[in-house]
Amino acid sequence: MCGITGYIGTREAWPILIEGLRRLEYRGYDSAGAALVNNGSLSVYKAKGKVADLESAAADKDRSGTAGIAHTRWATHGEPNTANAHPHLSPSGRLAIVHNGIIENYATIKSRLRQEGYEFKSTTDTEVLVYLIEYLMQKHGKGLLEAVQSALAEVVGAYAIALADRDDPDMLIAARKSSPLVIGIGDGEFYIASDVSPIAGCTDKVVYMEDGEIAIMRRGEPLKIVDLKNVECRHEVRPVPENIGLAGKDGFAHFMLKEIHEQPDCIIDCMRGRVDGPLGTVRLSAVTENKERLSAARRFVIVACGTSWHAGLIGKQYIETFCHVPVEVAYASEFRYSNPVIDSSDVVIAISQSGETADTLAAIELAKSKGAFIYGICNVVGSSIARATDTGSYIHVGPEIGVASTKAFTGQVAVLLLLALNLAEAMGTMKPETYHATVKALMEIPDKMREVLKSDKVIAGLSRTFTYAHNFIYLGRGFSYPVALEGALKLKEISYIHAEGYPAAEMKHGPIALIDAEMPVVFIATKNAMYEKVLSNVQEIKARKGRVLAVVTAGDKVVSSIADDVLEVPETLECLEPLIVSIPLQLLAYHIAVCKGKDVDRPRNLAKSVTVE
Ligand code: AGP
Repeated sequence: MCGITGYIGTREAWPILIEGLRRLEYRGYDSAGAALVNNGSLSVYKAKGKVADLESAAADKDRSGTAGIAHTRWATHGEPNTANAHPHLSPSGRLAIVHNGIIENYATIKSRLRQEGYEFKSTTDTEVLVYLIEYLMQKHGKGLLEAVQSALAEVVGAYAIALADRDDPDMLIAARKSSPLVIGIGDGEFYIASDVSPIAGCTDKVVYMEDGEIAIMRRGEPLKIVDLKNVECRHEVRPVPENIGLAGKDGFAHFMLKEIHEQPDCIIDCMRGRVDGPLGTVRLSAVTENKERLSAARRFVIVACGTSWHAGLIGKQYIETFCHVPVEVAYASEFRYSNPVIDSSDVVIAISQSGETADTLAAIELAKSKGAFIYGICNVVGSSIARATDTGSYIHVGPEIGVASTKAFTGQVAVLLLLALNLAEAMGTMKPETYHATVKALMEIPDKMREVLKSDKVIAGLSRTFTYAHNFIYLGRGFSYPVALEGALKLKEISYIHAEGYPAAEMKHGPIALIDAEMPVVFIATKNAMYEKVLSNVQEIKARKGRVLAVVTAGDKVVSSIADDVLEVPETLECLEPLIVSIPLQLLAYHIAVCKGKDVDRPRNLAKSVTVE
């Protein structure tokens, strides 16, 4: 994780760096820092906490300088404190570095440098890297670029780095391997950032760095990119994608709440140009362009993490039900180390909101090396995963700032549905009347979502009665089982209440031992093929005095008469229920966390984009 910004040009760097950090704060927020190069000196400011704390810490200091680098941290090595905050200086204080990623062999290098007499000031892996660079300059007579190349050739792991040199104030260096980095090219100025958001509005020209590349940004000269062996790399200058910038809360108390309320419009945006309402058909350009390859797939393998993995579980049911092709869903982090049996007859679907998740990227690379065709489902345009895949579909839900994913989840589910429908139609595996009816029902979803969102205040009131709980259980079956998992994840992430999701029928095989009058059990008990079965599960919980909160179909009388509390959702096709049932669960988690006074948009220990293994 961690966010990096950098600037070199003619303007004052500090405000540009700070604004950039604010836009990247979703990537980590346990400490922040900046280094400014000015008149042969490096001024370094750091603070534990958020970017606002850094601003306060440096408020009365000299912040002048037209070049600098900055960082907002999500700790990997070393606790979050000022000493471990970036930038880190080389032993002589000549070089400053900011880093996103993990240097896996830092301990070996550190002990070698210690034997050479170096003493370290932090417990980070990053400091080891800048020490190594200066060591190579001092003891091996290398120039800065050459020392960077040698050091990066030696380190194992992932990095995006930016480096400033006190003795060369007209140049910044940046490099990447497995962690994202983007360079913005302005008029006589360069920007460095972990994603495009800090660059949007400053220039419309960006270069997405590739693994193994080192960028040299020298004032008054064009951008130069070389590899570790100093071979010059061609680079493509691209426009900044549309709709990038600092999103506002639009009057909502938190980004998460705003994003929950955006979902009806997100689904409309997601369907735009893809769903033909009058005809009741779906066309995804990625399917049209790769129809033969996708239709020939012997198996689909979905790889993803967290919320995206939950969306994948729903996608599996769509593809298996509509296309009759087997689907496996793997945690990307497990897939990469599981010796997966995979070949060119497989299609791998990689799902990622950020498009930067390190485990998902690694799973893609592994699947590619075995010949599989890769279909990406991402939100962030131009992200590493979007670029690493053979084809794919964006979910088009706009920037998601809240660390707990909400609108990206429903966007992913919607795109998976479109993919399965489009493919099923191409393969002739779905009855035309079922296909058209599903498309028509999907078009009604945004209005149904709006209906559900009206219960926001009711859920806020109900949430107050749950703040006592230390544990929650979420239960659902079929399409609702992954929704139960997702509901539990939302609650854990932002309220820090322990919550588990289970298939409802699995309850009696163990977890039922946990039930007592204190235990809230959230049931998804909508009127669908599983209704009667779930009703029995509700009774099993009530018989043991558990406290049942049930999400039911509007007008339901049976579950409502047994459950302690109910939340109604409008009726829809069973396969579309995840799109509307997730909303009350998102609101429940949100309001419980607010009642408990938690930092909903920036929950402890988490970051929006997990770019480390
Ligand atoms: C969701 O609320 C989480 N913060 C997290 O599980 C997330 O979904 C996961 O890290 C995957 O991220 P991605 O979709 O950006 O790849």
